[in-house]
Amino acid sequence: MDNRIITVDSRDWSQPLQGLVSALEAGKVLYFPELRFELTPDESKLLRPDVRDEKSRNISLRNDGVLAGAAVQGEEQVRLAAMIGRFRSQACALIDAIAPAYKPALRLAPTSYRPAQVESRVQSWRADDRRLHVDAFPSRPNRGERILRVFTNLNPAGEPRVWRVGEAFEDIARRFVPRAKPYVAWQAKALKALHVTKSLRTEYDHLMLQLHDGMKGDLDYQRDCPQVTMPFPPGSTWVCYSDQTAHAVMSGQFMMEQTLHLAAERQVDPSANPLAILERQLGRKLT
Ligand code: SIN
Ligand code: FE
Repeated sequence: MDNRIITVDSRDWSQPLQGLVSALEAGKVLYFPELRFELTPDESKLLRPDVRDEKSRNISLRNDGVLAGAAVQGEEQVRLAAMIGRFRSQACALIDAIAPAYKPALRLAPTSYRPAQVESRVQSWRADDRRLHVDAFPSRPNRGERILRVFTNLNPAGEPRVWRVGEAFEDIARRFVPRAKPYVAWQAKALKALHVTKSLRTEYDHLMLQLHDGMKGDLDYQRDCPQVTMPFPPGSTWVCYSDQTAHAVMSGQFMMEQTLHLAAERQVDPSANPLAILERQLGRKLT
């Protein structure tokens, strides 16, 4: 397996970084071992699991400044929002430093803070991110729009966030597209009419869900496919297109995550993205 993780020596969120876009767009993980998200002493007090409302998976800061999923009030809540907001600014600066051409086309998603311990989560196989997968969301069709994510490990006890990173998207597609259930247009329309999906699930969205479920549901694949285990230490940051990079999280606690969306045609090389790869493989338009 070629190197799926590219290590970058940078300590500054906004220092321009040349020559990384093609690796990112090829589905590799850009790993910044020394790029630390600094916390103030007061913010460090927010590194405890009970800041999260047990009913929510994560704490998230929406673009309009509203904080969701937090169990703290008053001054602590203000501090939590400020901490997550500062991570958002730094994550956006990092993407601008890597891919300045993306800037006018990026669409910002909420920023999340994940204080829960990964190992103790109880979930269905489909929701279990400890299984290798590419990101695809049943209720949110995206018609090929990209999911670009920035992660940073904040763990105060020295615990890494341990990921597995799998094979290239072309190989995943070659393996799982032939097993995918066919797309049924009337079903997609019914799902939209019933508000199960927020917009029409295209054949692309259907296939991405089939890959997500196909990978997670195949325990032999989970065990035997080409993969590397990567412990991301506290104080490190990593970036990938999570709709393209096969990933799984095995353990860890306290992480920040920023998602940015990008129209597929606004990439530097649009022929490298999952939509283009799937369309080439099937020989037809999928959106
Ligand atoms: C995921 O996106 O599958 C989870 C990543 C993480 O929580 O580290
Ligand atoms: Fe994921």
